[in-house]
Order: sequence, then C-alpha cells, then structure tokens
Amino acid sequence: MKILVTGGAGFIGSAVIRHLVSDTGHAVVNVDKLTYAGNLASLGAAIESERYAFEQVDICDADALRGVFERHQPDAVMHLAAESHVDRSIHGPADFIQTNLVGTGVLLEAARAYFESLSGTRREGFRFHHVSTDEVYGDLDGPEGLFTEQTPYAPSSPYSASKAGSDHLVRAWHRTFGLPVLVTNCSNNYGPYHFPEKLIPLMILNARAGKPLPVYGDGSQVRDWLYVEDHARALVTVIESGRVGETYNIGGHNEHRNLEVVERICALLEELAPRHPEGVTRYADLITYVKDRPGHDVRYAIDAGKVERELGWRPRETFESGLRKTVQWYLDNHAWIEGVTSGTYRDWTAKQYGKHG
Ligand code: NAD
Ligand code: DAU
Repeated sequence: MKILVTGGAGFIGSAVIRHLVSDTGHAVVNVDKLTYAGNLASLGAAIESERYAFEQVDICDADALRGVFERHQPDAVMHLAAESHVDRSIHGPADFIQTNLVGTGVLLEAARAYFESLSGTRREGFRFHHVSTDEVYGDLDGPEGLFTEQTPYAPSSPYSASKAGSDHLVRAWHRTFGLPVLVTNCSNNYGPYHFPEKLIPLMILNARAGKPLPVYGDGSQVRDWLYVEDHARALVTVIESGRVGETYNIGGHNEHRNLEVVERICALLEELAPRHPEGVTRYADLITYVKDRPGHDVRYAIDAGKVERELGWRPRETFESGLRKTVQWYLDNHAWIEGVTSGTYRDWTAKQYGKHG
C-alpha cells in the first residue's frame, strides 16, 4: 500500500512512519503542516527511504489536499494530524476546533472525492483510518471499569470535545457516503520523540535541569500508558486487517497514578543519571504540587480485548521496560531535545507553569 499519513512529523505519526519504512514494504506520504509539535528530525533514517515522501500541507487547505491526492494516488489514509495537548486547549481552544474538527472535515471531503474517482480493486481496498483518543469517553471516577467500544462519549476538555466531534464526522462519512473508515481510540502514549509539554518527557527534562516537577492537584489521577511503538504496530495492524466501519480501542493494561509515574522517573534517574544537577540531592525532592488542571479527568483505562482477539495485536513493552528505555532515550538525545525546546517552548512553559517552570 501507499499510505498517506497526516501528522507524520509528530510523536505518534513519526513512530508509525519509522515502523512502516523499516518493518513493512508500504510506501508513505507524510502530510504535515509542521506546527510547534511537528519535527522532521523525529523521522530518523526513514526520511532517506525512496518509499517516503513529504508534503508540507495544512489539512484545512482543501486545494492543497486535492493536489496531494492527485499527485500521490494513495491506497489508504491514516489521519493523525491534530492539536493534541489538553492544557493548550484550555488556554486557546480555537486551534483545536480548527484543526481537529474543521481540518478533519476538509480531509474527509478530499478523501471522499478521491475515493469516488477510484474503481475496481483500488476502490474496494481503499481505507480511511482515523486515529483518536480514549479521552472522547470522558473519565472513570473510581478504580473499577474500563472504556469499551460501546462506552458513550462524554468529553471533558476542548481537546477531547474536538476529537469526539472528529470521530462523529468520520462515522457520518461512512454511513452517509460509504467512505470505508476505521476508527481507533488509544490511551496515553509515551516513548522517544515525545514533545516535552507532556507529563513524562517534561518530568525527565525538568529533573535533569534541577527544575520543579509540577504535579497537578494531588497527583492521584490515573492514566493507562502504552509505549508508542506498540501503538504504531497496532495502527498498522488495523489499517491492514481491521473490519471497515469498526472501532478498535487500543491500550497498554498499564494503569498508574500520576504521582507514581513521576516517582518512578525519579528512581530511574537516580540509577541512570546519578550525577545530580547543582543544589539537588534527590530528584524526588523536586516534586512540587501545583494548581490542578480545570476539568481534570480522574481515570482512563482501556479494554483492548477487541483488537487483541480479532487482530491478534498485543503490546510488547511493559511499563517498566518502556519507561526505562524512554528515560535513557532522553538522556542520550540532546540534539533532538535542544531542537524542540526553543523560544516558543519556553514561552509555553512560562505561561503554563509560571514560577514552577
Ligand atoms: P503531536 O502533537 O505530537 O503531533 C501532531 C502532528 O500534527 C504534528 O506533526 C503537527 O505538525 C501536525 N499538525 C497539527 N496541525 C496540523 C494541520 N492543521 N495540518 C497538518 N498537520 C498538522 O500529536 P501526537 O501525540 O503524535 O498525536 C497524534 C494523534 O494521535 C492525534 O490525533 C491525537 O489526538 C491522537 N492520540 C494521541 C495520544 C497520545 O498519548 N499522544 C493518545 C491517543 C490518541
Ligand atoms: O489518553 C490519551 C491522551 O493522552 C491523548 O489523547 C492526548 O493527546 C495526550 O496529550 C494525553 O493526554 P493527557 O492529558 O492524559 O496527557 P498529559 O501528558 O498532558 O498529562 C498526563 C497526566 O499528568 C494528566 O493527568 C495531567 C498530569 N500532568 C500533566 C502535566 C503536563 C501533571 O500533573 N503535570 C504536568 O505538568
């Protein structure tokens, strides 16, 4: 297949492209606007492959998208481009509505026009895979229960509401126009090339810099963590073998409280980077409780039984092995870190964390 991947310069999209190029025979067209979160350096050696092409395009630009479909004639679309950070959606929802809702609508229309121009086996085989989040289900307020594909939507933040809306658009294009769609809803990813506005990379980099580790509220909220390369394999499995019109939940069976995650990072740093920054005796001493996130979701946990049973996917990393690899990666990759923690990144941390940043 030739797969048009939107958002391929982001955290998960780059893992998908690295996997497609190095472990499969598929070709890739990376369609990315290169916002603050997009970085071609995250693609590594994939960029050199003759099975890789890049188009710097905003998914809200209908004319540019039409040109991309005409030039590349893809067999499938894997749609990851989005504004993805909950805290940013609280400071400024407009970009989230624009890219996640309007952009998905524009992309669906471009894909539909292209799909309708196809015939025979190319038309039968065409797929539009929408990559979404478990946050569309809202949250679970106790330790029991899991999100299944039947859980009703109840998004809490501007980010999750915009993703929920995009899921509805995708399903409507299937039912009304017959576009052959697949939807996946995944839990929290972590791993290499994760932009350091998100919990795990932020804590690793702040700890190494001797800065406060800002835990929102009391740190008791629970997330279900999945190593990004396991998610990338799941997404490729779904686009290759998923049933048209179906939704698959993807998760890692790794529920942990935020405070526990931060403490584990500190313990790994004690082992892997025992030379502390000046003035720091123990990394964990940097833990600082800060104002809670408005509308903070209490607990996410995924039932990934359907994708496991039907498509045979299983995560390979445990949280222990994946977190160790991740911490080591951030210790070893200064050039990538310096490339993404420039002026605009510092402006964000100042706005979000003030004196705790
Ligand atoms: P990310 O923020 O790291 O990357 C997003 C990418 O999309 C960037 O390369 C950016 O340049 C690009 N982009 C943004 N707006 C664009 C536009 N208008 N046109 C073209 N490109 C644009 O995001 P991520 O964490 O890799 O998430 C990817 C997808 O997976 C998102 O749809 C997100 O909702 C979903 N998801 C993320 C997680 C997670 O834990 N990170 C979990 C489940 C689902
Ligand atoms: O569940 C999937 C979602 O996971 C994806 O759809 C989102 O794109 C992705 O960003 C992620 O959302 P979260 O809000 O769960 O991730 P984040 O890393 O921002 O926060 C994880 C938890 O840690 C959350 O409970 C808030 C808390 N937190 C976060 C930051 C950045 C802190 O306590 N301190 C922080 O500084």
